[in-house]
Amino acid sequence: MNFELTDEQQLIQKTAREFALAELANGVIERDEKKIWPREGVQKMGELGFMGMMVNPKWDGGGMDAISYTIAMEEIARVDASAAVVMSVNNSLVCYLLEKFGSDHIREKYLKPLASGEKLGAFSLSEPQSGSDASNMKTLVRKESNGYRVHGTKNWVTSGVNSNYVILFAVTTPGIGHKGISAFLVEKGWEGFSEGKPENKLGIRASDTCELYFDNVFIPEDNRIGDEGMGFRIALTTLDGGRIGIAAQALGIAQASLDASITYAKERVQFGKPIAENQGIQFKLADMAMEIEAARLLIRQSAFMKDSGISYGHMASMAKVYASEVAMRASTQCVQIHGGYGYIRESGVERLMRDAKITQIYEGTSEIQRVVIARNLLK
Ligand code: CAA
Repeated sequence: MNFELTDEQQLIQKTAREFALAELANGVIERDEKKIWPREGVQKMGELGFMGMMVNPKWDGGGMDAISYTIAMEEIARVDASAAVVMSVNNSLVCYLLEKFGSDHIREKYLKPLASGEKLGAFSLSEPQSGSDASNMKTLVRKESNGYRVHGTKNWVTSGVNSNYVILFAVTTPGIGHKGISAFLVEKGWEGFSEGKPENKLGIRASDTCELYFDNVFIPEDNRIGDEGMGFRIALTTLDGGRIGIAAQALGIAQASLDASITYAKERVQFGKPIAENQGIQFKLADMAMEIEAARLLIRQSAFMKDSGISYGHMASMAKVYASEVAMRASTQCVQIHGGYGYIRESGVERLMRDAKITQIYEGTSEIQRVVIARNLLK
């Protein structure tokens, strides 16, 4: 593994950094407060090739490696973690899954517009009674001629409101656990398919999260992804890569926390000198920087393993647990360094703390990541 970025990776970093500052920074506090979805930002990310970065150009993707993807993700999240999760779900949960497991029909019809950013995708696994215990889902699919009928409720779906296409996991054969789960692609607008109102969240408020309702929705047979009964394996294989994306999102939040802390510590004068001259503040900055570098290395290593075809699920879990905990610590310290000012919306730093929290929860809680890591140690 090379620690220097290639010319192409450096260009991606520069492009993502400049784009985020020019197009996402403005209005980020207001979008968070009023839950305004970053429509223009998402559209421009598509035009820049950021919505299907790792997809083969044959399917209108960018043909880039996972390391490049994490670099872009970090830069977007450093400015707007809500835009970053929209990008993360579309890239690593939706496009990846369709390219790896979809038929050519599905790739042609759905992957191409998703990878080019023309359409947006969502990933729907969780249900009210099955979060961490993902295979305990109840949404039921009945086979009928030429297709299926699905009935049930899904929840915690990122981009559930604004997406065009949804990857749905549901039970085709009840009573046999995860072996009875299958994956489908469903389109918004199909009869009987509706969504709930966006959840009123603590953080990543500008991204939408909602419930999805399936009232005997017809799904054509061609829209099944993989064989019947393969759905749970498809979901977990896909989540391995998704967790690298969320780790990179957390890293962006942590880096933003350090950036803001350094700027403020140099400006803020107390007792006749900038607070940056106090060792108590310097130690906080040093700890933040040290942990951020370690998180970045774990993320790059897991992306490198994915790119190299090495089994990487446990490493992705390590990267996600560590980076999300670093994001939580760094953003909390950032608010502390900002004092009272950090506690009000206009500072922009309390948002980092609120945004960081979800990275310890979605795409598998920190506890589930530790289960994955421990199982790998003990197998
Ligand atoms: N890749 C491929 N297959 C895998 C796998 C992996 N990483 N991990 C397990 N499997 C396979 C197993 O081999 C097994 O298959 P066989 O029986 O054929 O051998 C099958 O999957 C079941 O495995 P387990 O018995 O280990 O399954 P489990 O029920 O104990 O669960 C778990 C394992 C790790 C806890 C898993 O359920 C899990 O990751 N839970 C968290 C779910 C999650 O991350 N949800 C987030 C939803 S997405 C989201 O957050 C919303 C959003 O929009 C961002």
